[in-house]
Amino acid sequence: MEKITLSDVEKKEIDHWVAKYPSNQKQSAVMAALRIVQEHAPDRCLNPPRIQAVADYLGMPVIAVEEVSRFYTMYDHKPVGKYKISVCTNISCKLRGADELMQHLEHKLGVGVNQTTADGKFTLKEVECMGACIGAPMCQINKDYHENLDAKKIDGILDGLE
Ligand code: FES
Repeated sequence: MEKITLSDVEKKEIDHWVAKYPSNQKQSAVMAALRIVQEHAPDRCLNPPRIQAVADYLGMPVIAVEEVSRFYTMYDHKPVGKYKISVCTNISCKLRGADELMQHLEHKLGVGVNQTTADGKFTLKEVECMGACIGAPMCQINKDYHENLDAKKIDGILDGLE
């Protein structure tokens, strides 16, 4: 496996989070570290060398870092598009039309869940509750939440992306 080291920018951002914990608890920053490395990756995902680099930097067994990265849906292990659309299909969103919203997006984008459009622009994901139930149905596009969605509203949001 190719071995990589984290960039100075990545290290600086991770150190910001490491500093929030006792000096013998660096591993507490693992979620932040994975997010930072994923955000800096050109293909926006965590491949084995990147996970190994996080493990090395935090002094953790690679399997422990891998487990965290596989548990949470916000981490990706294959390249994602420029815009990652994470649609919540948990109970509040489901009761308010999440399934119809997902079907609309699949039809509009021509991809299924966990797939990326041929132009590399959009990746569609299905996720659990993101704590925005009051605005159900909702989705997250990259870092932004969009709530009270219907087909017309999501069309406007996607059309507004560059
Ligand atoms: S159920 Fe969708 S945000 Fe909570």
